[in-house]
This record gives sequence, structure tokens and C-alpha cells, in this order.
Amino acid sequence: MDRRNEAAQSREGLLRSYERGERAPMRKSLENAYRSESESDIDATEFLDRDPLNEQSQPTVEAYGPSKQLASIRRSFARRSKCLCTILTILIIFWSILAGGGFFLYKKAPKDGLSPPWYPTPPGGTSSKWQDSYKKAQALVEKMTLAEKVNITTGTGWQMGLAVGNTGPAIHVGFPGLALQDGPLGLRFADNATAFPAGITVGATWNKELMYLRGKAHGMEARLKGVNVLLGPCVGPLGRMPAGGRNWEGFGADPVLQGIAGAQTIKGIQEEGIIATIKHFVGNEQEHFRQSWEWGLPYAISSNIDDRTLHEMYGWPFGDAVKAGVGSVMCSYQMVNNSYSCGNSKLLNGILKDELGFQGFVQSDWLAQRSGVASALSGLDMSMPGDGLMWARGQSLWGPELSKAVLNGSLPVSRLNDMATRVVAAWYQMGQDDKSKFDGKGPNFSSWTNDEMGVINPGSPDDHDQKVVNKFINVQGSGDQAHSIIARAVATEGIVLLKNEGILPLSKDGWPTNENHEINMRVGIFGEDSGAGRGPNVCPDRGCNQGTLGSGWGSGAVEFPYLITPADALRQAFNKERVYVTDFPTNDPPFKTAPIILKDQDVCIVFVNADSGEGYMAFDGIRGDRNDLLTQKGGEGLIVKVASGCGDGEGSTIVVIHSVGPVTVEGWVDLPGVKAVVMANLPGQESGHAIADILLGIVNPSGKLPYTIGRSLDDYGPGAKIQYYPNGAIPQQNFSEGLYIDYRHFDKYGIDPRYEFGFGLSYTSFEYSNLVVTEVLPKSALPAARPSGIDPPQYDDKIPDVNEAILPSGFKKLKKFVYPYISKTSDIKKGTYPYPKGYDIKQTPSEAGGDEGGNPDLWTTYATVSMDIKNTGSVIGKEVIQLYLGFDKVEGEAKEIDFPRSVLRQFEKVEVKIDEKQTVHFDLTRRDLSYWDVVRQNWVMPTEGSITIKVGASSRNMKLTGWY
Ligand code: BGC
Repeated sequence: MDRRNEAAQSREGLLRSYERGERAPMRKSLENAYRSESESDIDATEFLDRDPLNEQSQPTVEAYGPSKQLASIRRSFARRSKCLCTILTILIIFWSILAGGGFFLYKKAPKDGLSPPWYPTPPGGTSSKWQDSYKKAQALVEKMTLAEKVNITTGTGWQMGLAVGNTGPAIHVGFPGLALQDGPLGLRFADNATAFPAGITVGATWNKELMYLRGKAHGMEARLKGVNVLLGPCVGPLGRMPAGGRNWEGFGADPVLQGIAGAQTIKGIQEEGIIATIKHFVGNEQEHFRQSWEWGLPYAISSNIDDRTLHEMYGWPFGDAVKAGVGSVMCSYQMVNNSYSCGNSKLLNGILKDELGFQGFVQSDWLAQRSGVASALSGLDMSMPGDGLMWARGQSLWGPELSKAVLNGSLPVSRLNDMATRVVAAWYQMGQDDKSKFDGKGPNFSSWTNDEMGVINPGSPDDHDQKVVNKFINVQGSGDQAHSIIARAVATEGIVLLKNEGILPLSKDGWPTNENHEINMRVGIFGEDSGAGRGPNVCPDRGCNQGTLGSGWGSGAVEFPYLITPADALRQAFNKERVYVTDFPTNDPPFKTAPIILKDQDVCIVFVNADSGEGYMAFDGIRGDRNDLLTQKGGEGLIVKVASGCGDGEGSTIVVIHSVGPVTVEGWVDLPGVKAVVMANLPGQESGHAIADILLGIVNPSGKLPYTIGRSLDDYGPGAKIQYYPNGAIPQQNFSEGLYIDYRHFDKYGIDPRYEFGFGLSYTSFEYSNLVVTEVLPKSALPAARPSGIDPPQYDDKIPDVNEAILPSGFKKLKKFVYPYISKTSDIKKGTYPYPKGYDIKQTPSEAGGDEGGNPDLWTTYATVSMDIKNTGSVIGKEVIQLYLGFDKVEGEAKEIDFPRSVLRQFEKVEVKIDEKQTVHFDLTRRDLSYWDVVRQNWVMPTEGSITIKVGASSRNMKLTGWY
């Protein structure tokens, strides 16, 4: 079977089995994926009715004669039914316990959740920045029939269309179906496209220009492949839990780093005319229990987040994304405060659309929509992939049901008009009506097969129409426009040098003192992570850790067009006449039988890694979230062996880590042989080039940690631990540590991290001086009054004629495909339908709102900061200057507020030549200088006392201090 299809089907299959409450098959099926074909062909039921005693010499059926034959069938049947009975009994007991306990705990969960109601949905079209697009959108939507409006807001179903998400068109008005494709790292399931470094690597560069350029190249590839909507960037998870399975898709464990990186990426993607999707809104911090049924429970976990934490931490980067004009937001799988994110009116209507003034459309994560009318009323605009509560059954919660809801009056027509207008406006806003850039023909590749020919809707058993589905268009750019240049730059700048006892950089010619041209250095490369393994694409959705690690697994992963391995690149990079390189791409080199391979080296480079991914896949006992923070596959043991034996104890060991997030290094970092440690994050296709450039000093390292490396998982605090077991039918996870995650937690409790957030060494040194803080405006507590914005489009909100949604005569439906049509007029039962509790409460628009990203005054500059940076070393280098705020010197009412010791607010990366001095500027906005006041429900700037401005090289290495 095609690998891509395998990924899709394994997911679908796994999810279906979970829907039936079966937990084990997931592992089984994943294990099978890595066994030989003949092995995985064995049907599990074969084991159930095989009697080992008779196994040896089973006579043929003929030998028994008819009665024996019958007896044998009966016996086998009896055995089988005995087995079935046992299994059934176990299942019943299991479910009774679960349901009983679940019922008890369910009762304990607040009936209506803890999330207050916020209705109705604020309509889009209130920002002048979107005015033209909304005008054009209105002109189009006005002409659409009911069925067309529903069609563009509902996905066609899983594997119905070539992309991972597809909407229907509004043919009569010329609006195309949209193709939505993952993901944050590159184009998922696509050929001839770039495998960029992961978000976490991008975060580690702290380079705004590279963030933007990667987004732009990604957007261009999407456009050339016929995609309309990219399902990235990802800023949630934020990184509350260092072992969280998908942290690597985002940019690091801090809202400001995530926000700036997300906004830069969006800018790049959308400049190419592609609608970016910021995801997952909000609080999807762990994979365990993220989704109904996936983990055997009927409900997803609830992330319980208080108002201030939501604003200052988890919601913050989404605010930046909206401010950057993002066209789409994906709501997350799990609940927030006991209400599903995709049906949470406070989150979608209140915070996102009112307070943050979001003008685009909200799409559900795949099957994160858990209700029909209720989710539409709560602010969901697009159902993805369109299937209902279960995968691939064609039973949408919208589609025909949405048509019915409008016709029977349970969903106001105005809401559907707004949903459709938001979708069309986003399309215009990105310029997708420009025929010279968008031919409207949809994707020129298929997510479901690698073959040239295939069906467009493999999700339907009715589609047998073979077409050219893969045109194999190379979108990677070429020459000096090759996207590999950007991928390599990100991978290189995303490498963080953690420890260097004078060994790095290595010279390509070996030891510098030896002038002769003979071999003068022997380098041994160790570890499976240095080599190709079985190739980068061997497991569906990169769902296994083998060979060198270039990305995590799941929907954020892509097909690698190639992967430059560290071993290959290093071999190339050293001067062969002077440096002898040997590589052992295994975690178990034959040290015992051939001790020479270790003894004989001058320098040993050990590659180790740690992998994780999305929760629908598991590998090596890791079900999405990691089980610990250690390096995996025996990495620690390998380091210890190499470090103690390299050059018979005289050699220097360099450890390189490829990882999805922080790894603890306590087991080996202080070993005398370990002379250097390099965190190379997840580098994508250019892995080897990047590491060779850093190790050989071709590029001076300038990456900084986008998270803290603690000494143990415990150091991160209780809130940082994955909840691996449910504590109720609706597992509850309280974010009680509030603002104190990662470095904020370490600072608050005085815990000494091994390597702090923002830390990273260079081959040169920098001097910080001359901090100047200039007041631009005097402090004032509250932002200016909320501006009224412009009027949204007005429609005739009359319930349309039922014929607008009746299935056209002669229309041939594909099985399981989601259409907007209803079959007969009598399907519409008019009456009074209950609206959600709190629907009638009149909401006052938030004073923190008023335009995209919130009240425009939040973005007014109140102070500027400048400082000088000088390169005092002997090589050119880049430095990341980080600006943190402290609120320890505030007076008055703000003194009563609890503030973290330092919070990152700005950063700049500059390249400085030897002896050169540069001046760096920062603007501090009202939002930067404020905290979220839960009583006033607004951003409040402390006006008494002063706000401390700390500028430094990491969260623990402040060089200059000033006050505003
Ligand atoms: C993931 C999303 C992704 C979607 C489509 C979901 O499982 O959570 O991030 O965009 O699938 O592939």
C-alpha cells in the first residue's frame, strides 16, 4: 500500500477502533506497520481458534469424515465462543468500571462547564484593513444559494478531495472549493517540496528575517501546488509540558517568542497569497486525551485555564497572529474550562472575534467539532474535514444538517451568512481571485497516493474515476532562489551550542598546529542519529525514530525530498588528506570486539536524539507525548561509553542532540571526556550541512534555547507533567501554575537550570553597553476607548426557500461524500428550538478590542530602548539581544499583583563584525508594558513606580538594566 495512504488509513482505522473503545489495536497496527509484510498479514483471529495441542499433525478434513468434521467445527466454534465470551465479559467489566467511575466523575464536572456563554458571534467585516475584501465577499455571498453557503463552510469528508481538507465550491458564483493542507513544516504528503526545519528550530534561531523567509518559501510552495489554505503555523501547544508530543511544531516555551515567530511566518505565507492558519486555539498542551475516543474515553481532556493566564500566556501568540492579519484560526481538540474549544462561545465569539477582532474564519481541527448548531452559534465557521463525530462515515454535523438548521430556524441565517462571508473575505484578502496566480483547479498532487493516476475521492467506495492526480511539480525553487538555502540557514542558525571547552570549532584540516600534509586527526562519528537508517520516509507520517532525526511525527511532518545526514556532510567537510573520518551509525558499535574504533580516535562525535509526535501514532512506547526527557534508543549509554573510551580516555567527545524539545543531560554532561554539547533541534532536510557548518566553524553558532533545559523533569514543576492517566470521564487538567511555566517557574522557585531559556554560546564574545530608555508617552493605566470599527456587511436575513437546498434532480451522489443537500421538504420541521443557556445575555464589546489584534492603542509605543552591542572576539558573529521586563518596582495597586521575575517582551538578532559596535533599538508597546486585569477585563499598565527593563543574552544573563 502507498505510504501516504497507509498513514491516512492507519489514522482512520485507528480512530475507528478507538471509537469502538478498542485501545490495543492502535499499537498493534503501528507495530505491524514496522514488521515485514508477511508478518503483518497474519490475521489476529487465527490465534484465537488455533489449538496448540492439535497443531502438530492436523489431519485433513477428509480424514475425519463428515461427523468428525462437524464435531471439529463445533469444537472450534465452542472454543471461539468461549474466547469471545471471555473477551466480552472483560470488556463489559471494563466499561462498567469506566462508566460507573466516569458517571461519578462526570457528575462532579460542572454541568454547563466553567466557560461563560458569549453570544451572538460578532460578525466579520469590522476592520478597515479588510474592508475591500468584505465588500467583494458580500457581493458574492449575496448571490449564493443556501446550499452553496453551506458547501463552502463544510468539508467534503475525510479523503474526499486531494488535500487533507477540502470544501465544496459555490459554482454558480464562481467560488472554488478550497484545498487545506498541513502543515507547519512544509507541505505534508507532497512530492518535490521542501522539508523545512521544524518550528522549534525556527524558534531557536531567534531570527525574525529567517522566520519570515521560511514562511514565504512555504507559502510559495503551497501556491505552486494548488493549495489555498496552509494549516500552520502552530503556536499551541505553548510548551507548558516539556515532554508534550507536539511542542516541536511551535516555536518555544514562551508566548512572545511564539507570537513573533508566528506573526513573521504568517506574513511570509500570506504575502504569497496563501491563507495561513494559526493553530491550535487553545490549550492543546498534551496529546494524551486530546480527542474524544482516540484514547478510549468518550470525552476529551479539559484544559482549565484562568482568565489572566489565558490572556498573558496561551492566548498571547494568537493575538499576534490576528494582528498580523491571519486568515484562519484552527480551534483545538480538547476542552477549555469544560467546553470543547470548537464549541466554546467565550473563546471563539468573546475572545477571538470580539476582543481580538479576528476577521477571518475559524476551522475545526480534524473532528474537533463535537456539536452541530451549537458550534455554529459558538463561532465555528468551517467544519473540518466535514465528517461528523466519527471518521469517514459521511455523517456530517453540518452539510445537510446545517441546511436543515437554517431552514427550520434553529440557526439564524445571519450566522450562516457571516460564516460564508468570512471564508470568502479571507480568500479575497489574500488575492486568490487573481487568476494569474491561482488557476482555481485545485491541488496538482494527491495526499493519498504517490502514483500519477488515482481517484480524487478515495474516501468514497463509489469513486472509480482514475485521473492524473500527481503532476510531480517541483516547487523547491532553484539556483539562488532554492528553498534549500533558507532551510539550511534556519537549520544552522537553529543550532544551539550548549557547552564548549575549547574543542569547537574543529578545523577541516585537523589540529591547527600540525603543518605537514599527513593525516593528523582521526574523527569517529557514532550513533544511529548520524546516519541515513532506512531512509527518512520509511515510516508513515515519520512515525518512527530511526536514522538521523529531522522532524517529529504526525500531521506536522512531511515527505523528505532528501535528507543530508550528519555523517555524510562531515565526511565531505573535512579535508580527507589530513583528517581521517570513520562513522558508526549505530547506538551499539562493536566496542567490545573492536575496541580500536574508540581507542584510536582523537575526536569522537556522538549523535543522539529524542522523538515525539502527534497522539494518533505511537512508537517505542511513546504515544505522542514523551515518557521522560532522556535521549532515546540508548543514547545516554552510548555517550557514556564514547566519552570514557574515546582516544583511550584522552580524546575529546562532542555530543550532538537532535530533539523535539529539552532533554536532560545530567547523566553525562559533566563527564571529563565530554568537551562540547550541541543542541541541533529538528533540522529538516539540510541537517548534515547545518551541523558540519557549525562544528567546523564555517558558521558561528548563534542559536539560543527556545526552552529551558532543567536538571530533571521535576524541576519544571508539577504542572509540567503530562497527565498519562485519566482522572475522570472528562479528564481535568488545571493549569494552576498560571504564568509560571518554563523559565518563569525556574525563576520563581530559584531553581538552577542546567541551561536556561535564551542561552546559547558563540565562537566570539559580545559586550553590551549604553542602555537608553526613552519615554515616548507618559504611563497611563488603560488603553484609549475602543474604536467603533466599520459596519459589517448587511444581508437580507430571511429564511431562504427550501428549494435552495433540495438535492438537484438527477444529481448522482458519491457514497460518504458530504453534500449540503436535503432530500425532501418534509425534512424541515419548523418549531421553536432551544438556544444555548446565556444566549440572551447582552454582551458588552470588550474595551480591550476594537480592531485586528485588539484595541489599536495596545500597539502604541510608550517607550523606546536602545543599547550598543560590540563584537569583542575574533570572529564575526550574530547575537540575540533579549529584552525582559520586571515588575518588581511597580507601586500602587499593581504592587498587589503577582508578576514573574522576568518576562520576555522583545528580541533582535544582529550580525556584528570583529570590533564593530552596533546600536539596537526596541519599541515597547502598551501591551508589552501591561498585565491582564481580571476585574477590569482590560490590559492595565502599572502607572506608579517603575517597570524594570532588562537587556541580556539569556533569561538568566541580564547585562543592562533601565527603568520606565
Ligand atoms: C491535527 C492538525 C492537522 C489536522 C489535519 C489534526 O490531527 O491536530 O494539526 O492540521 O489533523 O491533518
